[in-house]
Amino acid sequence: MERWKGRVALVTGASVGIGAAVARALVQHGMKVVGCARSVDKIEKLAAECQSAGYPGVLIPYKCDLSNEEEILSMFSAIKTLHQGVDVCINNAGLARPEPLLSGKTEGWRMMIDVNVMAVSICTREVYRSMKERNIDDGHIININSMNGHSVVPQSVVHFYSATKYAVTALTEGLRQELREAKTHIRATCISPGLVETGFAFKLHDNDPERAAATYESIRCLKAEDMANAVIYVLSAPPHVQCQKKCKEYSFPVYMNCA
Ligand SMILES: NC(=O)c1ccc[n+]([C@@H]2O[C@H](COP(=O)([O-])OP(=O)(O)OC[C@H]3O[C@@H](n4cnc5c(N)ncnc54)[C@H](OP(=O)(O)O)[C@@H]3O)[C@@H](O)[C@H]2O)c1
Repeated sequence: MERWKGRVALVTGASVGIGAAVARALVQHGMKVVGCARSVDKIEKLAAECQSAGYPGVLIPYKCDLSNEEEILSMFSAIKTLHQGVDVCINNAGLARPEPLLSGKTEGWRMMIDVNVMAVSICTREVYRSMKERNIDDGHIININSMNGHSVVPQSVVHFYSATKYAVTALTEGLRQELREAKTHIRATCISPGLVETGFAFKLHDNDPERAAATYESIRCLKAEDMANAVIYVLSAPPHVQCQKKCKEYSFPVYMNCA
């Protein structure tokens, strides 16, 4: 991780869960981390914790609703003004709404498309632009995908969510191909966990907290810190590494590709 010290990472959805754990880990490794989400107060609290713990990096909170393209573009413009640009992008923000294909509300589907697919695509395009204009050739874009992005489970409440995560699988592979065509060494990776114990299921089943709690009791879940360790592993892999492997240690696949 030595080469990332002092460089700028953007972590979307850094207020809670996996994003908060990843942001903390990157600050612990000395990076300058812009953490964004709507609940900026939670990121401010995390930033204060990182500071009082004496971590070598810094967490910079930024309020952004990723379902709004103008807010995303303003964030990139603020990052350019204050910190030059982004070297590492962790597209983590995401959500599931309980809207089956036969009866779901359009609004819930649109919310998932906007954050899980459109925001990932907009951030990726803007990060690449930021890297290119500064001649950054060793950047890294990491998409937090899901096992739902590789198989469709028989649970109607996550079918549309699964479609958005299949999109993330296609977006990451398409990105890898375009980076290769562009002859850059910028890398694209997606990490696809199974169940991770966060507040995610409580937002999916916001009318049924017992069902949400049962989700995490059904199996021994991954922790947000396991995901942060996976991100650190991916970022610290030497530049020649290209792998597409099942990570036995963490029991989820890490699809890591380099151009
Ligand atoms: N937990 C799991 O079991 C699991 C499994 C596989 C994959 N994943 C994936 O992992 C990622 C993180 O999930 P998590 O478990 O950490 O969920 P979480 O605890 O619910 O956190 C989701 C994060 O996304 C942010 N977010 C949601 N909508 C947003 C919007 N419109 N604008 C800005 N930020 C927004 C939230 O921030 P605000 O609400 O403050 O805006 C929050 O920081 C997601 O992509 C999810 O699909 C999770």
